[in-house]
Amino acid sequence: MRKNIVAGNWKMNKTLQEGVALATELKEKLSNATPNCEVIIGTPFIHLATVSELLKDSVIKVAAENCADKESGAYTGEVSAAMVKSTGAQYCILGHSERRAYYHETFDILREKVKLALAHDLKPIFCIGEVKEEREANKQNEVVKAQLEGSVFNLSAEEFSNIVLGYEPVWAIGTGLTATPEQAQEIHAYIRGLVAEKYGKQIAEDCTILYGGSCNAKNAAGLFANPDIDGGLIGGASLKADDFKAIIDAF
Ligand code: 13P
Repeated sequence: MRKNIVAGNWKMNKTLQEGVALATELKEKLSNATPNCEVIIGTPFIHLATVSELLKDSVIKVAAENCADKESGAYTGEVSAAMVKSTGAQYCILGHSERRAYYHETFDILREKVKLALAHDLKPIFCIGEVKEEREANKQNEVVKAQLEGSVFNLSAEEFSNIVLGYEPVWAIGTGLTATPEQAQEIHAYIRGLVAEKYGKQIAEDCTILYGGSCNAKNAAGLFANPDIDGGLIGGASLKADDFKAIIDAF
């Protein structure tokens, strides 16, 4: 039941034309492949409709990188979960550490976003992870526990079973420093244990937990070989079709 997933997160990169070119290249590279995992690309809002249409006959699914914490109305510049859904996207990355740090997304805001994404039939890829100082103080477990309790453990079991978790240690994002497979496995197992305590063993067993943070073609296989690491959330290496494909091939 548990799905392996390799998901790209383009972040704030690529113009519309560049994004279409990258999605086209990736589609071609995967056209004769049967990946042993689900493949998702997370793109900026402006790419979603075009890229979803382009990929509709391919194995690649599309994610937004964010959505609003309000249903609709006078919120200039925001993009709602319903709008994201209407583009053809199926997933929505939420709680990324960059959004928490630079756009002040709190546990409460994220709880609203998760609720709205689910209400509009989008699957949240919910990110958690500690900063360097917290890891150095050996506080990573309590940090991820608080993040889960603050924004997703309020969900019903049925709602929670539509969530993908992404463990992304902030000190590993874009730094070239990767958590070792042992470090990642240890905390993934801890996270799965928290899900089991809250929702029971079966939902925990079925929950996909991705690792993110300088995951690349060289280290992906070592990470994915662990029993509680069900794939990757890929930033920099998702911006080149060959690199991203090599990570998919690690499965
Ligand atoms: P990098 O792969 O560039 O470290 O980014 C990881 C990430 O933040 C994915 O969401």
